[in-house]
Amino acid sequence: MKNIKAIIFDAYGTLFDVNSAAEKCKDKIGDKWEGFANFWRTTQLEYTWLRSLMKRHKDFWQITEDSLDKSMKAFNIDPSMKNELLNLYKVLSPFKEVPEVLKVLKEKNFKLAILSNGTPDLLNELVKSNNLNNVFDDLFSIEEVGIYKPDSKVYDMPINKYRIEKNEIAFLSANTWDVSGGGNYGYNAIWVNRNNNIFDNLDYKPNLEINDLSELINII
Ligand code: LAC
Repeated sequence: MKNIKAIIFDAYGTLFDVNSAAEKCKDKIGDKWEGFANFWRTTQLEYTWLRSLMKRHKDFWQITEDSLDKSMKAFNIDPSMKNELLNLYKVLSPFKEVPEVLKVLKEKNFKLAILSNGTPDLLNELVKSNNLNNVFDDLFSIEEVGIYKPDSKVYDMPINKYRIEKNEIAFLSANTWDVSGGGNYGYNAIWVNRNNNIFDNLDYKPNLEINDLSELINII
């Protein structure tokens, strides 16, 4: 990890806990909250890939709602909870080490950015609600290119803006498929393996695997 000029983070699942919306409602949802949260997330991602392939783009907020509708039906969740879950999704909590790690990296003068499927509004609200708005140089949203990860047009955005080489970027994602996407593209991709998962077989193995972002400080 030499000559790193910019550190780029995936948002959902990497900096922010996508399960925290359902978790905050676990008293009402009951024990099935975690299965429901995972189903919602998987359906949401499938919709991003399918819409990219079908060339029928809808933004991430619409996809989040569409996938929530299906998931609530699949798990028999009271329809009156829909707005509460959607509102909580706008203010997801960061993983606990995230604010401190970002502060340390910022002091080291790296360019810091988010590169995400989220809309500009969603990303702005996420960083603002968690007091992280002064940390990032850029919040790159796929809305600028109109197609979802892992299309290479998405990974082009920071390269074009910062005029740096692909391997001068450290890209961090907890999503294995996003690590494969960024790594196949040419980034130094680091897998944040928060839950002891198994990596994918998609022609790329991550340069590094860490369990949470605090390990990053000693690496870069
Ligand atoms: C994102 C999703 C993939 O933030 O986690 O782009």
